[in-house]
Amino acid sequence: MEKLIAPSVLAADFGNLQRDVEMVNESKADWFHIDIMDGVFVPNISFGMPVLKSISTHAKKTIDVHLMIVDPDRYINTFADLGADILTVHYEACTHLHRTVQAIKAAGMKAGVALNPHTPIAVLEDIIADLDLVCIMSVNPGFGGQSFIENTYKKVNQLKHLIEFSNASTLIEIDGGVTDKNANQLIEAGADVLVAGSFVFKSEDPIATIENLKTIVN
Ligand code: DX5
Ligand code: ZN
Repeated sequence: MEKLIAPSVLAADFGNLQRDVEMVNESKADWFHIDIMDGVFVPNISFGMPVLKSISTHAKKTIDVHLMIVDPDRYINTFADLGADILTVHYEACTHLHRTVQAIKAAGMKAGVALNPHTPIAVLEDIIADLDLVCIMSVNPGFGGQSFIENTYKKVNQLKHLIEFSNASTLIEIDGGVTDKNANQLIEAGADVLVAGSFVFKSEDPIATIENLKTIVN
């Protein structure tokens, strides 16, 4: 399967948001990765519904929404209406994860679950077959521009085995600190989708940086 690159809009220039969204449209990127933070689940607040609405007005690619919020069930239908194609919730934020995943699918979206760096892969054993995507956090969620946690490779490997063992078709996404230095090793460990924020948007030529990442992973 083709490996995917998902630029994280968190690192875009919000004063020039339409320009940056069009840049992603024109690039070889596959998805828009959208980080929603509530200042409770994570120690930061990013942006909310009106901003996502503006992004989805211009975005011409899959919209991959990563919710870093407590009690995400409250907003599942809202995010479906705002144009999310994939909705990822945190394992650590959901008491009834199975119910949440079913509700995301019932709203017409693909369902993802994100794991914090300290959360073991094994907690997904009984739900993996229901998941379209698992997002392995390779930094502690809340901020862009942090350093990649090396233990991630081991987790990708474990998740890959769990998916194969369960005959599931779940995609493995990596989020945090992705650069041209770790992209290849992540793919070799079993990753399918690489999220990249700072590495793309803070580079001199984001279109070329995306193209370079896309070449490295395929
Ligand atoms: C972190 C977010 C990431 C972030 C990645 O909480 O979930 O998606 O934007 O940014 P970089 O690529 O800069 O680590
Ligand atoms: Zn994210």
